[in-house]
Amino acid sequence: MMRETKAAIVAAKRAGSIAVKSLRKNMAFKEKSSHSDLVTKTDVLVENAIVSFLSKKFPDYGFLAEESGETGVADCKWIVDPIDGTNNFIAGIPYFCTAIALQKNGLTVSGIVFDPLRKELFVAEKGKGAFLNGKRIMVSKKTELREFICITSIRAGLPGEPWLQRQERFLRLYPLVRSVRMFGASELDLCWLATGRVDAFVHFNVFPWDGAAGALIVREAGGTATDEKGNLWEISKKVLIATNGRRHKEFLGILGL
Ligand code: IPD
Ligand code: CA
Ligand code: CA
Repeated sequence: MMRETKAAIVAAKRAGSIAVKSLRKNMAFKEKSSHSDLVTKTDVLVENAIVSFLSKKFPDYGFLAEESGETGVADCKWIVDPIDGTNNFIAGIPYFCTAIALQKNGLTVSGIVFDPLRKELFVAEKGKGAFLNGKRIMVSKKTELREFICITSIRAGLPGEPWLQRQERFLRLYPLVRSVRMFGASELDLCWLATGRVDAFVHFNVFPWDGAAGALIVREAGGTATDEKGNLWEISKKVLIATNGRRHKEFLGILGL
């Protein structure tokens, strides 16, 4: 395992302990871009802890972190979501995680996602497979859409897309698949896809830190993660559709993409 991955695992576990200790204590929050985009003191505390730990170990590496933005332009860059699922965290819904990815020259080479409540650690390195608590994971083998469980955030739509149009897309999907879920932490959603618990993930407004680690974990588990056109998803892209890879093109079609 790369020494960066080992360090990021330590950082993510420390992040998880801070988050769990703060849970249900001081849940004061501020609204950022909207009433559903929130930040607590814990998000900032956790992010600072991750950045300070990793920058001591890798002083030349840059960061792209949700709460503090881009710092230190470098070929090697950490992408950090201190708490993915902040709404759940605030409400006490046990579904949130910390996500850390490492990019080298624009390519994601390492992805770490830690769910501190279930103590589930998801790790992938490019070309080396995906693991949950040290055991190899693979996406589901389901081939029939009628068996698919899909995770989404139906709030999100294409830029400028009216609310009703967003909903119509999902109205087409509902009858064709087994169920649609909205759990509220994209990086964890992607890891659940990578373990085969669910079969597809749909989001139209992801930020780099919402998918960088998870997309690598999905791919290393044998799945597919693309934009709306079926091209490889990269952190600059807002639309992220990930599936077990069996019916990906058809799935994009159903969503009208
Ligand atoms: C959010 C979660 C959620 C997704 C939102 C994200 P945050 O991240 O990943 O599942 O639907 O688009 O902003 O704000 O909790 O880190
Ligand atoms: Ca976050
Ligand atoms: Ca997030």
